[in-house]
Amino acid sequence: MSSAEWADGASRAPGPPGFDLDHAGLKAWLQEDDPARLELLWMEADRVRKARVGDAVHLRGLIEVSSHCVRHCLYCGLRAPTVELERFRMEADEILACAQEAHRLGYGSVVLQAGEDPGLTKAFITEVVRAIKGDTPLAVTLSLGERDDEELREWKAAGADRYLLRFETTDPVLYRRIHPNLPGVPSDRFAQLQRMRTMGYEIGTGVMVGIPGQTWDTLASDILRFREFDMDMIGVGPFLPSPRTPLGGQGVAAFLAAPSDQVPNDELTTLKAVALTRLVCPDSNIPSTTALATLDQARGRELGLLRGANVVMPNVTPVHYRIRYEIYPGKACVNETAEACQDCLDGRIRSLGRSLGKGPGGRSSRAM
Ligand code: 5AD
Ligand code: FES
Repeated sequence: MSSAEWADGASRAPGPPGFDLDHAGLKAWLQEDDPARLELLWMEADRVRKARVGDAVHLRGLIEVSSHCVRHCLYCGLRAPTVELERFRMEADEILACAQEAHRLGYGSVVLQAGEDPGLTKAFITEVVRAIKGDTPLAVTLSLGERDDEELREWKAAGADRYLLRFETTDPVLYRRIHPNLPGVPSDRFAQLQRMRTMGYEIGTGVMVGIPGQTWDTLASDILRFREFDMDMIGVGPFLPSPRTPLGGQGVAAFLAAPSDQVPNDELTTLKAVALTRLVCPDSNIPSTTALATLDQARGRELGLLRGANVVMPNVTPVHYRIRYEIYPGKACVNETAEACQDCLDGRIRSLGRSLGKGPGGRSSRAM
C-alpha cells in the first residue's frame, strides 16, 4: 500500500485511522501538548515504522570530505564568510580509507558530505566514487550541495546511488532570506531534487525544526511536501544556533516569526516532526539525526529511533578533520573514533530491542 492509498476520499484526511494528516491536522499535531495524545502519536509512529521498514537500524558512515563552502546560508557555520574556521579538503585516498573503515565496521553505505565546494571537481568526485564502488560493496550517497546536471549525471554514471539535498523550507520568502543568492547562481533545490530523481538517484531531503522565521504553517507544509515528493530519505533535526552565523547572534531577533507562530527548536517539537514524517511517508528512510543527538546527548538518538526513525549516520571522518567541520558547535560524538562510535551505537540500538541493518539499506518499495 502506498501512502496515497491511506486517503479514502472525502470521508477523512489522509492518515491512519484517527490521524488527520492534512495541513490543519499536521499543524494541530505539531502543537499538541497533551501527554496522552502525544503517547498515541509516539505509538502510532513506532507501529508504522516497524510494520513498514522493520526493526533493522541502517548505519550510514558519514564522511565529511570538505569544509570549504562558497555559499552564505545564514544558519550554517561553514558559510563562506566565516573566517575563523580552519578549512580542509580530504585527499582521495583518505576518503577511500574512511569508506573501507565503514565497510569493515559493517555499514552498508557511506555519505560523502561537504559544503558547496567547487574544489571538489567533477573529475575528483568521479574518481572517488569509482574507487569506493570498485573496492567495496557500499552504496554511495553524495551530499555536496547544489551542483550542475552534468556533474550529477557523471557521478551517477560513476556509480553514485543517492543524493541528499535538504530543501530546508517550503516558504519561498524564508528560503530566500536564509539563502542569500550568489550573483549569477540561482538556487532551486526542488528543481534539482526532481532532476536527480529522473537521473536515477534515490533522493533524500529534509528540514531543520525551529529555524528562525519558521511558522507552524510552514513546518506543516514542509511535512506535506515530503509526501508530495515521495522522498526516499528524510532528515529532520533541530536548528542549533551557531554563534559564527547571523542566526546565532544578537541579530536573530529580526528573523523570528511572531511569538505564537515561531516553531521552537526544541527536542519535543523535533520528535513530533519526526513521528509525523513517518506517518506521512511510511516507507522512507528517516535518520535519527546528529543534531537531535547533540541537543540531547543522553537520549536523543534513542528517542529519534523510538519515534519513527530507522537510520543512524555515524561519523567516520578522521577526528582531526571532524572537529573542523563545525556546522554548529558541540556536535555529538565529535571526539569519538569511528570504532568507539560504533560500539556506543551498537549498545544503544540493541538496548531498544532493535537490530543492526545489513547491506545497503536502500528504499525497497520503489522501483528505481
Ligand atoms: N543547526 C542544525 N542543522 C544545521 N544544518 C546546517 N546548519 C545547521 C544548524 N545550525 C543542516 C542543514 C543542512 C545539513 C547538512 O545540516 O539542514 O542541509
Ligand atoms: Fe555551506 Fe550553505 S553555507 S552549504
